[in-house]
Amino acid sequence: MPQMLKVLGIESSCDETAAAVVAGGTKVLANVVASQIELHSRFGGVVPEVASRQHLLAAIPIIERALTQAQVAWTDLSAVAVTIGPGLVGSLLVGVNIAKGIALAQGLPLIGINHLEAHIYANWLEGKEPPFPLLCLIVSGGHTDLILMKGHGVYLRLGNSRDDAAGEAFDKVARILGLGYPGGPAIEQASREGKACYHLPRAWLRGSDDFSFSGLKTAVFRLTEELRSSGRMNSPLRADIAASFQQAAVDVLVTKTVEAARRHQVQCILLAGGVAANNLLRETMALRSPIPVLCPSPTLCTDNAAMVAATGYFHLISGRADSWELDVRPNLRLG
Ligand code: KG4
Ligand code: ZN
Repeated sequence: MPQMLKVLGIESSCDETAAAVVAGGTKVLANVVASQIELHSRFGGVVPEVASRQHLLAAIPIIERALTQAQVAWTDLSAVAVTIGPGLVGSLLVGVNIAKGIALAQGLPLIGINHLEAHIYANWLEGKEPPFPLLCLIVSGGHTDLILMKGHGVYLRLGNSRDDAAGEAFDKVARILGLGYPGGPAIEQASREGKACYHLPRAWLRGSDDFSFSGLKTAVFRLTEELRSSGRMNSPLRADIAASFQQAAVDVLVTKTVEAARRHQVQCILLAGGVAANNLLRETMALRSPIPVLCPSPTLCTDNAAMVAATGYFHLISGRADSWELDVRPNLRLG
């Protein structure tokens, strides 16, 4: 039965080494993620060389753990899917070469996956089949893309960020406020203690589906400097700034997505990527959208390999497999 095909997914595009086994493109049998956050946090961000070395150490044990947890033997697998980009070149190379080795040794089809497409397909792992056409807002550390999807594998990018990605803005604002790394969860946590009482600028970019977050980030920087230099900065104010930033970023993301969804008469809105783990974004989108909003559970929003395996399944049943020439594509885009 094609829906029971089991795909091994491997993800190593940034600072998470991950392996997963997914059956039928929708059922997660195992999803193992080894985060490198602690390694990188003392540098305030991901150090590419450190990341690739760590992937090399972690990958094989993580893959073996995924198979054990899934209670699946190598011979039960139908394909190996691996992220080929976008991401850090050295990190991607580790995953792709390990995937090639496994596919070759086990005689399995090898399928290279676009990490952004995989973020979208995390939505197929939640027990509901998203109806087409749909609009997907991908908000991650490197991307803010508004994608119109008319069917499996059919993508039209309506807009993207002209400067900082949404997640990058959360990370940079957290650094400005001294809240640590990664910034998204830190901002969300701090915001719970604060009020969104500062009106920070929103870049609407009317007439375009693009986004811009650098003005908002600069406004936070100026406000923080002003409060620091006058000796007024303290924890409650820091929480208020975090909440005001989060409110402004979410306001723009939701307003522009809902407006584009109406214009393109889609059936539903999907959220994807690490920032989609943000509760204010999830709740505000659901509240303001007149059509259904689907989002993966938070652990499937941030980088994982279940989303890679799910995407691999849909490529596999459409008859696609890559050759041994498969290479990494650090600057890959979608649509
Ligand atoms: O998708 P992802 O795990 O990796 C990339 O493909 O980039 O996204 C990571 C980004 C980081 O910028 C992180 O700060 C952000 O997602 N993020 C969040 C939250 N959790 C992770 N941003 C806002 N709120 C969160 N709860
Ligand atoms: Zn990602």
